Amino acid sequence: GLVLGLEGTAWNLSAALFGDDLVALHSAPYVPPKGGIHPREAAQHHASAMKEVVSRVLAEPERIRAIAFSQGPGLGPSLRTVATAARALSIALGVPLVGVNHCVAHVEIGRWATGFDDPIVLYASGANTQVLGYLNGRYRIFGETLDIGLGNGLDKFARSHDLPHPGGPAIERLAQEGDYIELPYTVKGMDLAFSGLVSAAQESGAPLEDVCFGLQETAFAMCVEVTERALAHAGKNEVLLVGGVGANGRLQEMLRVMCEERGAAFAVPKRTYLGDNGAMIAYTGKIMLEHGVTLPLEESQIRPGYRADEVEVAWRTEPGE
Ligand code: ATP
Ligand code: FE2
Repeated sequence: GLVLGLEGTAWNLSAALFGDDLVALHSAPYVPPKGGIHPREAAQHHASAMKEVVSRVLAEPERIRAIAFSQGPGLGPSLRTVATAARALSIALGVPLVGVNHCVAHVEIGRWATGFDDPIVLYASGANTQVLGYLNGRYRIFGETLDIGLGNGLDKFARSHDLPHPGGPAIERLAQEGDYIELPYTVKGMDLAFSGLVSAAQESGAPLEDVCFGLQETAFAMCVEVTERALAHAGKNEVLLVGGVGANGRLQEMLRVMCEERGAAFAVPKRTYLGDNGAMIAYTGKIMLEHGVTLPLEESQIRPGYRADEVEVAWRTEPGE
């Protein structure tokens, strides 16, 4: 059987079909004309692209066993648009809904794509920056940002210098020509904060390339420190990098060096599975369905603040079992 997955928590409306492997994937990214993502405009984009995105993956509807959708976390208007389409498909095809936590889906597709079993996960995206690991039936959040997500911080800095959106790739290119400058480093226990760093970078009078380099080095070192501490604390030996910021070569390099020093394995999924995509929802929906986890229509309301550690991970057994 197949599971159709719908993702649309923020900028990317994306649908996929997952069977034993990925069968189809189609995305329609929303690119804000200027400034950051406007929640209502993103939702309007999703609504107008829905027919095209869904019909591109809707081959063999009679083999579809469930409709999975990202229930949260994310932007309210975008989540509502996706949930409405998912409910309509579920009713039309006569198959159950599966409500997927977006953060857990990043982790699960990452495990599938890399073959890692029980990693510490650095999930660095636009709105989220968290270090997670499986413990006693849940993905525990060992540490996370106390203010903004790293990607949104990079995008904000980029906007203030009229760099194209999304800002991460532009900053990475400029940083390759830069020299190190010192910027504020904030790690509090296992948690991080980026807004002070981003403000200081915006106010810096240093050459743009140097500010980009300093911004990356500082933000990524903070992420690596927390990841390393979680790895030691949880006694695991794999590190998985997921989320859109995970595309950054320098962040990958810094994590790889830390893992080599600790004798841990490091992996990052290929780009298709790194940022928001329908495949991660279809895949996670499929393993949830196989473990009997479905969502009655009357409980299918969106969950904009849905946290990874609220999910009972019914599909994993304890390591070593
Ligand atoms: P979430 O809802 O999980 O927070 P998201 O909607 O922000 O995710 P993602 O696709 O996971 O979406 O991440 C997008 C972010 O990734 C953007 O902020 C973008 O700047 C950042 N990004 C993309 N490529 C790079 C790169 N090479 N270096 C740094 N950041 C990058
Ligand atoms: Fe995401």
